[in-house]
Amino acid sequence: MTTIVIVGAGRGLGAAVARRFGAEGFAIGLISRNQEHVDELAAGLTAAGHTARGYAADVRDANSLTTALDRAAHELGPIEVLQYSPLPQREFLRPVLETTVDDLSGAVEFSIYGPVTAVQQVLPGMRTLGRGSILFVNGGSGARPNPQVAGTSIAFAGEAAYARMLHDTLAPEGIRARQLIIPGAITPGHPTHDPDVLADRLWHLHNHPGDFRAFAEEMPDA
Ligand SMILES: NC(=O)c1ccc[n+]([C@@H]2O[C@H](COP(=O)([O-])OP(=O)(O)OC[C@H]3O[C@@H](n4cnc5c(N)ncnc54)[C@H](OP(=O)(O)O)[C@@H]3O)[C@@H](O)[C@H]2O)c1
Repeated sequence: MTTIVIVGAGRGLGAAVARRFGAEGFAIGLISRNQEHVDELAAGLTAAGHTARGYAADVRDANSLTTALDRAAHELGPIEVLQYSPLPQREFLRPVLETTVDDLSGAVEFSIYGPVTAVQQVLPGMRTLGRGSILFVNGGSGARPNPQVAGTSIAFAGEAAYARMLHDTLAPEGIRARQLIIPGAITPGHPTHDPDVLADRLWHLHNHPGDFRAFAEEMPDA
């Protein structure tokens, strides 16, 4: 059994992706800042017949993130899929003229240092397996800067540059780096933005080679 680790796993998209990959036989590692939150999610998944465990880590704290990923690999099995999808914090979502250096430094820790930390931790295991996927999930400002949400617009651009370089560099090794852009809100029951529909898109991105970036719905001029 191999493992998917969802970095930033909550009741919305994180839980849906856990169910989708769990149904395909993956063990599931769930990471968020709050141990109770991920324990609760893991308990629900375990009750539904999946193998799941929760690990507390803050993506802005490199040591906690590498420790959680290391524990997940040892306790659940080799990490074949890493999904990076923590929900951005409010201070990253301010208008451009109100965004301070402090706001930006948090956004950069969250969206650039966090992904680099996570990828460096899991990549050796994927190389040993000879396959793997690194899935990045971002809102619309990840594809087109939005002056209402300057922190994510700036930091997601760096995250996407890193992820696209991984896509180009790792493809010959059978390791996929892909990005799913979700413009607008995740909405249960919506034909394209329902968490289960989005989880299915991510399952497809893991399983099929293709371009670096995919969209939950078309985004003009992106
Ligand atoms: N929700 C939307 O409408 C929407 C729209 C477009 C794109 N997205 C993208 O979808 C993904 C999130 O999906 P979702 O909104 O359904 O969220 P979710 O999977 O329900 O939960 C995400 C979890 O991220 C965790 N998190 C936040 N900051 C963190 C940190 N610093 N370190 C570790 N974990 C952290 C939070 O848990 P703790 O509080 O326990 O840490 C939160 O529950 C993100 O990639 C987001 O950019 C969401």
